[in-house]
Amino acid sequence: MNAEELAGTIQEALEEGRTAAAPEALEAIRVKYLGRKGLLPRVMKGLKDADPSERAQLGKLANQLKQELGKLLGARKQELSGASGADAANFDYTLPGQWRQLGTRHPISRVIEDTAEIFARLGFTVAEGPDVETGYRNFEALNTPPHHPSLDAQDTFWLESGELLRTQTSPVQIRVMETQPPPVRVITPGRCYRRDTTDATHSANFHQIEGLYVDKCVSLADLKGTMAYFARELMGPSVGVRFRPHFFPFTEPSVECDFSCHVCGGKGCSVCKHSGWIEIAGAGMVDPRVFKRVGYDPAGVTGYAFGMGVERIAMVKYGIKDIRMLYDNDVRFLKQFK
Ligand code: PHE
Repeated sequence: MNAEELAGTIQEALEEGRTAAAPEALEAIRVKYLGRKGLLPRVMKGLKDADPSERAQLGKLANQLKQELGKLLGARKQELSGASGADAANFDYTLPGQWRQLGTRHPISRVIEDTAEIFARLGFTVAEGPDVETGYRNFEALNTPPHHPSLDAQDTFWLESGELLRTQTSPVQIRVMETQPPPVRVITPGRCYRRDTTDATHSANFHQIEGLYVDKCVSLADLKGTMAYFARELMGPSVGVRFRPHFFPFTEPSVECDFSCHVCGGKGCSVCKHSGWIEIAGAGMVDPRVFKRVGYDPAGVTGYAFGMGVERIAMVKYGIKDIRMLYDNDVRFLKQFK
């Protein structure tokens, strides 16, 4: 075989390699050209008898055949084996399937959503406000002037802008009343912030749900009836409520609202600290000064407001002993709440 013929044969060999459609075909090409009895050894053996003027050229071509064809066959083999992996005939049906864990609702979301749903039946809509609030809406508009002692307990994370991370959801009452005339019937769930050191029952970041009802002739009896309905719907049909006198700057009179213990039925147990009652909400009749601030006529309307801690409700409802479990994002804990 002279140099010209050999060059042509190499091109054919490469073309065969490029078009081979199965690993077996590639192997046959390798045997034919590079194998022990193939073309390459024959060319090498023939070199010593070859025309001296062609010998160098033939040697170069033999090398080209070995290198290029070897490389091409290797690459094609990989291509073909990759393709056959996806082949239905080679699919291993006994391999474990892809498993996706279904998410669950977080206890905090559950309490907020369940509460919104219960109050929706009473005609309450949901309103929201920003976490960053003005000192005016968080305190002053709620009848809490800067020198007021109750500010100390709540004085919190002030920002350089003079605004603060709201300490309660009550400023959303102000936002709602600033933007719409009475009647008003809203609940306002959201995140709040206080300068609290974290322990089993405190967190500097927590959630509240505020409620506000303003209309003609709204009374404390309406508040009590509403809270009693809410308590039964949320905790169970035998749960009752009681009011204890309290103080809030923006309600007058003010009360704290307790639910009878849903675990022991009021007899006393560890959940209710053996008192039979569980403190759930602060509430009261909206102070006329608050109405004046937002431009409502205190002689024409009355209203009640209440505010409750979402984490606290979640803890007593689901028997969670440590508030931090609500923030750890441990799926072993969270997946209990289907
Ligand atoms: N905002 C009050 C608190 O955080 C709760 C409250 C809301 C009390 C509405 C009365 C009326 O303690």
